[in-house]
Amino acid sequence: SKMRHVTDRQTLKFQYGAFTVLVFHSVVFLAVIHSCSGQSDVIGPSQPIVAIVGDDVILPCHLVPVMNAFVMTVEWARPDLDPRFVLLWRVGVELASKKHPAYRGRTSLFTDRLKHGDVSLNLSSVRLSDEGRYRCFIPKLNKSPTIQLVVGAVSSPVILVTESSSGGVLLQCEAKGWYPEPEVVWLDGEGNPVPAGPAETLRGPDDLYTVSSKLTVEKRHSNFTCRVQQKTINQTRETHVQVADQSFMLPRTPGTPGTRYSWYFWFF
Ligand SMILES: *[C@@H]1O[C@H](CO)[C@@H](O)[C@H](O)[C@H]1NC(C)=O
Ligand SMILES: *[C@@H]1O[C@H](CO)[C@@H](O)[C@H](O)[C@H]1NC(C)=O
Ligand SMILES: *[C@@H]1O[C@H](CO)[C@@H](O)[C@H](O)[C@H]1NC(C)=O
Repeated sequence: SKMRHVTDRQTLKFQYGAFTVLVFHSVVFLAVIHSCSGQSDVIGPSQPIVAIVGDDVILPCHLVPVMNAFVMTVEWARPDLDPRFVLLWRVGVELASKKHPAYRGRTSLFTDRLKHGDVSLNLSSVRLSDEGRYRCFIPKLNKSPTIQLVVGAVSSPVILVTESSSGGVLLQCEAKGWYPEPEVVWLDGEGNPVPAGPAETLRGPDDLYTVSSKLTVEKRHSNFTCRVQQKTINQTRETHVQVADQSFMLPRTPGTPGTRYSWYFWFF
């Protein structure tokens, strides 16, 4: 509608010259009236907010135009919980006793920013169970945007190296404690994907996923990367392994007990 106004204005300018200025001024005047008549809003992000288990996360919420929220009631709630309050602020005081027990000691407002209309919620030590829809409700303005929180869990993969029955080297990559379910890919030393069998996925009683993937490679000296990634939470963790022929890489050390593998490898 802004574009439309501009276009209309330009049309008028061509047709009526000086009259345009009058029209333009009345539009501005109406806009001022509009904001003075209580057409205020409470704005949250349109995209989901992503947090990783254990992190702190800020759920943004702002009053537009800027108003002093310190003296208002601010209700942060999850409608699917009982009690639903994640944080309840009433005229300068947080009513901590009304808060759902799962959020006790983990939620706060930025009290110094409330007077600038910033009613964002600081949620600390994020848990998987925090995932869901939050409402930032300002009763005085009767507006309550919904803020969606997506929670992810990640860990670095671990690669186990053993001799394969076929005489090559078996690389077993495992990553525990992921959420949502990630995918596993293998890359060679140049970063090109290496085809491997289907990954195995297990879901634990804690809802977290363990993924594993096996790759059998030749004995020759080479680098491999096991990459575990989850696009929804935009997270990637990877571990590299270098497989090399031990007799080629290491000086012989007579008298030491036999090494378990005939291949020398290391992680980096
Ligand atoms: C959020 O709250 C936690 C716990 O009280 C605190 O350590 C952290 O600094 C706060 N985050 C910000 C951005 O102030
Ligand atoms: C493997 O990676 C290491 C460390 O990045 C590098 O020094 C080495 O040259 C690589 N070897 C091969 C065969 O790509
Ligand atoms: C995903 O993560 C990368 C690396 O942390 C970052 O550079 C990028 O901006 C992120 N993308 C999105 C869509 O959040």
